[in-house]
Amino acid sequence: DKASIGVTGLAVMGRNLARNLARHGHTVAVHNRSEQRTRDLVEQFGAEGEFRPTYSAREFVDALERPRQVVIMVQAGAPTDAVIEEFAPLLETGDVIVDAGNAHFADTRRREAALRERGLHFVGTGVSGGEEGALHGPSIMPGGSVASYESLGPLLEDISAKVEGAPCCTHVGPDGAGHFVKMVHNGIEYADMQLIAESFDLLRGALGYEPAQIAEVFRTWNTGRLDSYLIEITEQVLAHTDAATGKPFVDVVADQAEQKGTGRWTVQIGLDLGIPISGIAEATFARSLSGHADLRAAARGLAGPARTRLSGAEAERFARDVEQALYASKVVAYAQGFNQIQAGSAEYGWNVDLGAVASIWRGGCIIRAKFLDDIRAAYAAEPNLPTLLTSGEFRKAVEHGQDAWRSVVSTATRLGIPTPGFSTALAYYDALRAERLPAALVQGQRDYFGAHTYRRVDREGTFHTEWATEERRERET
Ligand code: 6PG
Repeated sequence: DKASIGVTGLAVMGRNLARNLARHGHTVAVHNRSEQRTRDLVEQFGAEGEFRPTYSAREFVDALERPRQVVIMVQAGAPTDAVIEEFAPLLETGDVIVDAGNAHFADTRRREAALRERGLHFVGTGVSGGEEGALHGPSIMPGGSVASYESLGPLLEDISAKVEGAPCCTHVGPDGAGHFVKMVHNGIEYADMQLIAESFDLLRGALGYEPAQIAEVFRTWNTGRLDSYLIEITEQVLAHTDAATGKPFVDVVADQAEQKGTGRWTVQIGLDLGIPISGIAEATFARSLSGHADLRAAARGLAGPARTRLSGAEAERFARDVEQALYASKVVAYAQGFNQIQAGSAEYGWNVDLGAVASIWRGGCIIRAKFLDDIRAAYAAEPNLPTLLTSGEFRKAVEHGQDAWRSVVSTATRLGIPTPGFSTALAYYDALRAERLPAALVQGQRDYFGAHTYRRVDREGTFHTEWATEERRERET
């Protein structure tokens, strides 16, 4: 009998997805450019389920029942195009190609349009959860046609993570919607990681706590509203001691954060769509700043504040305040990310259900958290919510925490501890709630030097002031 799905590209992510499918009772055709990986998979894990090892593109395609479902798990970019071109000519009308890698959504849109012309379905799907997730249940964000989801959806839902019985997989929307949502997931991931890292830095810098003590603080936080995978692994990383030196692990790691680029994409697209995702942008810049060793070495001697530690009552409250600041800043980062999805959905006509996205991020993915169920509920109650910040529980929590949030940002500023994530989140909050913004002055400046015109608060129309004449005159343009 034929396989119900096939996976080509058997590096660890592809291999684990194939194993996950097989473990759920699906017959999986497997294929890899170099044959050894295929043999290894079947040799090591063949007992887990029904695998059909194949050693050529033709053999792979012939092993699949129709409509064929071919999952590609290779490097994003040119390698993905190459593999598509290898298989597409062998497929027939109605067959489905699934790209489960971290592709740029614009590439996915291009590929989907081209393959649709050839009668094939192309599903760009986000898969989050790393190697472990791929094997035990990832969060899956498929795009592509509704028709493709009819055959593919049940399989993907079957192997996805489950939260209270609900699969962490849904049809996100057409063409590139799935990869777009995965991109924003990663942007939020960057922001969340940065905020957690700043919390660590504050507790260490302002209070002088050791990493093991801070691990303990995170362990406590993880029992409350911050309960999440990222806080949990932070605790583990901070509690870890380097075997070779006996020092805290975090102290022997070079302090230069790297990135494969999905965060950068999120920021680029945020700029293109005109959506202020300052939290994600600051997190991305913070990584790039950390990597500039020469710049940092050159600036290391610059003067800082005389006082760098907290003491007394301030110190006593501080950890609690940091928890408040972390929570509030996190709400901002997620609010911005969801606004970006909303904007992408409007721009490309995807009709993405934000509550459904929050729902499938509750389990399996890197940003999985208790908090995401609150976001799901917020969008369920009000699908066109302008920002999470004004929604019931979030509003209450952030308003309740704002004094602590302000105090943490000002303490950080006084002590010279950089908190770009906390600071930008607070600035976003204050800018959104401001009655008037100095943007009015910026418009005046633009009109002065470039006759760029402005709108008025009291009249419709577009205006320009004749700045050069003796008596400055306003006129409608
Ligand atoms: C996930 C992760 C995964 C990966 C990213 C981030 O959702 O499972 O986001 O996609 O870890 O590529 O990596 P960088 O930090 O290197 O950008």
